[in-house]
Amino acid sequence: MKTQVMLPDPQSITLAADLFKNGQLVGFPTETVYGLGANAFNSDAVRSIFAAKGRPADNPLIVHIWNRSQLGDLCEIPPLNVKLMDAFWPGPLTLLFPRKQTVPDVVTAGLSTVAIRMPSHPVAYEMLKACNLPIAAPSANLSGKPSPTRASHVFKDMNGIIPLILDGGNCDVGLESTVVDVCHGQPTILRPGGVTQEMLESVLGCQVAIAKSTLEPLAEGEKPLSPGMAYKHYAPTGSIVLITGEEQNVLSEMRRLVQADTEYGFKSCVMCFTEHVEALRDCHPHDFGSCHSDKEVAKRLFDILRQLDDEAMERIYSEVVFPEGMGLAVMNRLGRAAAFRTIKV
Ligand code: TXA
Ligand code: MG
Repeated sequence: MKTQVMLPDPQSITLAADLFKNGQLVGFPTETVYGLGANAFNSDAVRSIFAAKGRPADNPLIVHIWNRSQLGDLCEIPPLNVKLMDAFWPGPLTLLFPRKQTVPDVVTAGLSTVAIRMPSHPVAYEMLKACNLPIAAPSANLSGKPSPTRASHVFKDMNGIIPLILDGGNCDVGLESTVVDVCHGQPTILRPGGVTQEMLESVLGCQVAIAKSTLEPLAEGEKPLSPGMAYKHYAPTGSIVLITGEEQNVLSEMRRLVQADTEYGFKSCVMCFTEHVEALRDCHPHDFGSCHSDKEVAKRLFDILRQLDDEAMERIYSEVVFPEGMGLAVMNRLGRAAAFRTIKV
């Protein structure tokens, strides 16, 4: 299959809508990451998403809508979700709703809830409006690869597999949406993202829990609240180790490790803050943004993880951010990419 990459205009938006109506897949931008979409009511089309990504069938998908009137066909609406939709939609927040039987099992992996989000990206909005279908879409990467934040990332993973990618530029948030569950007792963040714990608590007026698996690996045999948490994610081919501690100690440990690797013939590098690039110039520094901006680090992280693969890096040493606010989302993805391997200095 030939994969077309098109800039968004009325013609390409209409083409995307027609492809969805015909049960085909389209790669499209959202403000978080690129999605790989299909008509959520067409089970065969949704199954082909799993095939294209090599995704395990027990990991449910997020349904994307442009208008709240679409909810009635999909789910019941808990009052707490109304508050959250009023505050954060359209935007990087996915909510779980009790599903209706109209939603195919393949979308929800048989769960009693369906995850739904209304993206704020103007291209996603136009596309969802043009087809007026609920669109089931995971991130548009091959399973186990970092989520795509540019159309070129989608092309790399999906070339020859899907007919169309809409190129809407670089994603603004750069990490996947916050996933929140109010259906099973205390409101809980299943996956941290651009809408933070503090933002949710200020709207709900109650404490919001964070799933335990956010900053640590699941225990042997433990069942995650969100199936996606069970899989090794965002993993580059090389091994990442997180280096934490006092600033000067971190920098000298990184220099020591890279030097030792180089002597043994390993291709190694560091991921560091802009402020440390100069001090680490002999260590192949990959600048992931300023230490004063977790948002910038979030926006760059997946692109850098993909670069590490392109450069066939074997060993990567990374600085860390403080796991609060957007920093929690960064550390959730970075921690998993590193399989939580950490050296404290
Ligand atoms: O920003 C995003 O959320 C992107 C864009 C494309 O919208 N999508 C995305 O989808 O990241 P995906 O499939 O890569 O991640 C969806 C996550 C998975 O961890 C999945 O297990 C969880 O949401 N999920 C989906 N439905 C669920 C449900 N009913 N209950 C619990 N977790 C659910
Ligand atoms: Mg994903």
